[in-house]
Amino acid sequence: MPRPAVPSASSHVMFDIVQSLPEQIRKGIELARGVDIAPTFPQRVVICGMGGSAISGDLIAACRPVKRLPEILIVRDYHLPDFVGKGDLVVGVSYSGNTEETLSCFREGLERGCTLAGVSSGGALEGLCTQGGYPLMKPPGGLPPRGAVGYLFASLAMLLEAYGALAIHRDLEGLVGYLEDLREALCPAGPKDNDARRLAAFLRDRIPIVYATPTYGAVARRWQTQLNENAKVLAWHGLLPEMDHNELVGWSADDRAHDFAAVFLQSPEEEDAMERRLRITQDLMKGRVPMETLKARGDSLLERIFQLLYLGDFVSVYLAELRGVDPTPVRVIDELKARLARR
Ligand code: F6R
Repeated sequence: MPRPAVPSASSHVMFDIVQSLPEQIRKGIELARGVDIAPTFPQRVVICGMGGSAISGDLIAACRPVKRLPEILIVRDYHLPDFVGKGDLVVGVSYSGNTEETLSCFREGLERGCTLAGVSSGGALEGLCTQGGYPLMKPPGGLPPRGAVGYLFASLAMLLEAYGALAIHRDLEGLVGYLEDLREALCPAGPKDNDARRLAAFLRDRIPIVYATPTYGAVARRWQTQLNENAKVLAWHGLLPEMDHNELVGWSADDRAHDFAAVFLQSPEEEDAMERRLRITQDLMKGRVPMETLKARGDSLLERIFQLLYLGDFVSVYLAELRGVDPTPVRVIDELKARLARR
């Protein structure tokens, strides 16, 4: 059972981390400046990572404004797909630099003669990049990986831009100011009745399921994982239109639906068919499960994606506070990694 709300010193640590997102993006852009990159236009970009590091790759793929740039693939696994080889750029993204799945993919990229680069604050990945002379974006260490999303995202974006695989830095610079304004509205020192607090209260005694269309799939995943790791709750995400072909049946027929809460992330750029689908889906779920619809705001896709992401990050910490849990440590992940490392 959740404990009563105890605003504790521990949640301030994560609030500070979440609040540092605009500065992280600004510094992440700068990280690329000193890195020596021989521009070889890759045929494909393969971003390998897990958890809080991998999400930076999803966000890059989601925000990519120019479609004719190389395909971007995110690999969350021990192995690269068979078709990845010479001519492809493999980027290992691991904040700690010690995640075994990421290291395994990076080593496979090396064996297959791929172009290699890394994003990491240290660990074995830094070692591999230094030894091999591969470009490395090195954000400052000492954060939980999921709390370094600004550094990881911005430095990865600049790395890909240096390879000619992305054109984003002007938008990124604009994003910083947009997030600074948003932070004022969402932070604990801001208005008491902010959206993030209200949503945390809505989710307090329910299991969150976050839905989005593929355009905002990365954001829905980020909501889920921040709720899992910061608020320490079970939470999942799903995508439209796929959920209409399976999960919708569960919502309509399973009496446990009331234990959940559905949060829909709505993007203004959807085509009419998708908007219609969303309306009908919600109508069919009405009365079965408490629902919230959040409309993305911002002048560009990048701003809209980060607006909803930032809201979710704050929600997860307010929810941790309401539940009286410390949002920062993820002891069970640490234990899993320690046990995996014992051979
Ligand atoms: C912890 C977190 C995790 C890690 C994941 C991979 O804050 O978010 O999901 O990101 O275990 O570790 P790294 O990012 O160090 O490769």
